[in-house]
Amino acid sequence: MTTAEIDLPKAVRPSIAEMPEQRIGAVAMTAINDPDVIPLWFGESDMATPQFIQDAAVTAMQAGHTRYVSRRGVTPFREAIRDYTKFLWNIDLGLERISCTGSGMTSIMIAMQTLVDAGDNVVFVAPTWPNAYYAVDVLGGESRFVPLSLTETGFKLDLDQLFDACDDRTKALFVNSPSNPSGWMIEHDQMRDIMAFARSRGIAVISDEVYHRLVYDRRVAPSFLEVAEPEDALFVIHSMSKGWAMTGWRAGWIISPASLGDKMGELSVLNNTGAASFIQHASAVALREGENFVAEMVDRCRRGRDLVFQRLSAMDRVRMTRPEGAFYAFPKIEGMSDDLEFAKRLVKEARVGLAPGSAFGPLHDGYLRLCFARGEADMSVAMDRLEQALSR
Ligand SMILES: Cc1ncc(COP(=O)(O)O)c(C=O)c1O
Repeated sequence: MTTAEIDLPKAVRPSIAEMPEQRIGAVAMTAINDPDVIPLWFGESDMATPQFIQDAAVTAMQAGHTRYVSRRGVTPFREAIRDYTKFLWNIDLGLERISCTGSGMTSIMIAMQTLVDAGDNVVFVAPTWPNAYYAVDVLGGESRFVPLSLTETGFKLDLDQLFDACDDRTKALFVNSPSNPSGWMIEHDQMRDIMAFARSRGIAVISDEVYHRLVYDRRVAPSFLEVAEPEDALFVIHSMSKGWAMTGWRAGWIISPASLGDKMGELSVLNNTGAASFIQHASAVALREGENFVAEMVDRCRRGRDLVFQRLSAMDRVRMTRPEGAFYAFPKIEGMSDDLEFAKRLVKEARVGLAPGSAFGPLHDGYLRLCFARGEADMSVAMDRLEQALSR
C-alpha cells in the first residue's frame, strides 16, 4: 500500500505525508530474501566486518563501555579521527572540530538541521544519494539538482550551472565525491572554486566524503578540508560503513568549524547521541589498525569495477564511463522507458537486483545503478544475466 492510499492522521506534517516512495527499497522489497537473486541494489559489500573490529567491540563492551556517551563522542574515537585525517590528508584538525555521530546519514541530518529552515533550499550535484535530499524535504526545504553531464571521458560538473542554481534562500551546496551513484570524483581546482563562491555568498558547503577510500588511481580522494579555512562554513560527512564493511554498525562523524562544535553535539543528542559506546571504541580501532582491510576492500572493488565496466560497456544498449571512485556503476540504458518497472522486471525475470536511476534525483530516469563491491563469481553471473535481459 502506498502512503497516498492510507488515511493519515491530520496532524502529520505535509512534508512527511507527501514523502515520495523510496525507489531502491521498492525494488529490493520484491525479493529481499530470495537467495536466487544477486543483490546489487544497496550500497554495501558482501564482505563481513573484519574479526579484529568485532573483537574490539566485544572487548569494549566487556570493559563496561555500555553507558551514555559524551555528546561529541568518546575521546579515543575522536583522537583516532584526528590522527586518521592527518595520516591521509596531512591536515591538523583540533578535536573541537570533530563530532561522532550515529552514521553518515545522521551527520547529513545534523548538517541540514543546522542550516535549513522551511523555504530554504539546498543545491545538489546530481545524481545524488536520495536520503540526503529527503533530509531537506523533511525539514520543509527545497532540493535543487544540477546534473553532471555524461561525456566520453566521464561525468563533468559545470560550475556556472551550479552557481546559477543558487539564490538568496540557498543555504548549502551539497557535493558527494566520490559520488554515489555516478562514480564521479571532484578535483581540487573545482573544490577551490566552489569554496570561494560559497564563502563569498554566505552559503555552506556540505561535502559528503564517505567513499574517500574507494578510489582506484590514488591513495585517497581529494577532501574539501584541503581547500578550506578552519572557520569556513564547511561540514564534512564521514561514515564507518563503507571502507570497513560496517554498514549495520551505524557509526560516523562530522567535521565542522570549531565554533559550531557544541551545536553539533547538541543536535547529536536530539538524534541519537552518536553510535553506542562500544561501537565508537571499536571504530577507533578500525581507523588505527584497518589499513590492510581497507586495501583488501579496495582491491575487491577494483576487480568488480573492471569486470563490470568491461562487460557493461560492450553491451549494445548501454552507455557508461569507468567509475573513478565509490563502488557503483551507473549505466544509461537506451530504450528504457520506466526505470522502476524495468528494475522490478530485472529482479523477476533475470534474478539480478539493481536500483532505478530515478531514485537519485528527478533527472536520471533512464539509468540504473549497481553496486560492484562483491566477489568476482557473483559479479560475473550478474553480468551474464543482465546481458541476456538487455538483449531481449
Ligand atoms: C553518499 C552517501 N552518503 C552517506 C551515506 C550514509 O552512510 P551511513 O548512514 O551508512 O553511514 C551513504 C550510504 O549509502 C551514501 O551513499
